[in-house]
Amino acid sequence: MRKFIIDTDTASDDCAALMMACMTKNIEIMGVTVVAGNVSVEQAGRNAKMTLEVCGSDVPVFLGAKQPLMHSRKETISVHGVDGMGDKGLIHPQGGFAPGDAVDYILNTVAEYPDEIEIVVLGPVTNIALAILRDRETMSRVKRIWSMGTPGFGPGNATPVSEFNVFIDAEAYKIMLDSGIPVSIAGFDLCVGDIEIDLDELAEIAASSPQGAFLKDATAVLLDFNRKTRGQDMIDLPDAVAMACAIWPETVTGRMNVYCYTCIDNGPCYGQVIFYREGSTYESMPEIPGYPDEVITSMDAGGFTKRFIGMFKKQ
Ligand code: BDR
Ligand code: CA
Repeated sequence: MRKFIIDTDTASDDCAALMMACMTKNIEIMGVTVVAGNVSVEQAGRNAKMTLEVCGSDVPVFLGAKQPLMHSRKETISVHGVDGMGDKGLIHPQGGFAPGDAVDYILNTVAEYPDEIEIVVLGPVTNIALAILRDRETMSRVKRIWSMGTPGFGPGNATPVSEFNVFIDAEAYKIMLDSGIPVSIAGFDLCVGDIEIDLDELAEIAASSPQGAFLKDATAVLLDFNRKTRGQDMIDLPDAVAMACAIWPETVTGRMNVYCYTCIDNGPCYGQVIFYREGSTYESMPEIPGYPDEVITSMDAGGFTKRFIGMFKKQ
C-alpha cells in the first residue's frame, strides 16, 4: 500500500483534497502535517482535524511552521474566508493535535520507512524545507513529493508570474526543488477550465452525503470570490487536482521532465519558477545538470469530475 504524508495549510480546496485521500481506499495516510499559509497554522490545524473527523478518520495532525522562512505571513481571507472554510461555523473538532512538531514527524516517518513515503504538499513548503535543512540525508529517502505549486504554464494568481504557495515562501520552494528529492508539480493552470466544479455539480455533491454538504459550505467564500473576480459561478480546486495527480494516476494525461529554477530575488520575479524542458533550449543556453522533476501538463477533466462527484455518493 502506498504511504502518504499530507502537508497542508488547510482551507477549502485543501479540505477537498484531504477528503479525496480519506475516501481513496488503496492508500495509507500516515499523518497530516500543517503549515501557515491560507490561514494561521492553528486555524489550518483545526480545519484539517475537522475535515478528517467529518470523514471518520483519526489520522494524527501535527502542527508545523507558523510563518515562512524569511518573510512575514500573508493570508487568503478574501479567497477562502476568515476561517479558511467558508465562514459558516463549521469548525469544531472534537480531538486535539498529535504531540510533537510536524517537521520532526516528517523526519521520523521517512527514517522509519526509507524510500516509501510520498508527501503531498498543498500549501507553502516551509515544513519540507525545514526538514531538509534539519536532516538532508533522511529527506533524500523521500520517495516523491507531489506539490500544488507554481502557475504551471499559465499566469500566476499571486503575481503575474507567481502562484500563492510558492509566493508565500519561495526560499522554501527553492530548497525543496534543489534538494534532489523527485518532485511532481501540479500547477495552477491544471485547475481552470472544464475541471472546475460548477453550481449543478456542487449541488449534486452537497446532496450526496454529509461530507459533500460540508464541502459545499466550506467552499462558500471561494464561490463568492470567483463570482466577484471572474464573473463565474464555480469553484476551482487546485489542491484537489494536485491530490488527483498523486492518488488517481489515471486522471493525468500529460507530463514533462524539467529542471526547475526558483527566483527568490525580491522584486517582480519573486516566486517565479522557470521550467527548463529537455531539448527545448539552444546549446548556447546555460548548461542544465539534468531534468529530475516533472510538471503535470494536462488532466482528464471529465474523468476527474466524474470520480470526484462519485466519491461523495459512496459515503
Ligand atoms: C493554492 O493557494 C491556496 O489558496 C490554495 O489552497 C492552493 O493551495 C492555489 O494557488
Ligand atoms: Ca492549500
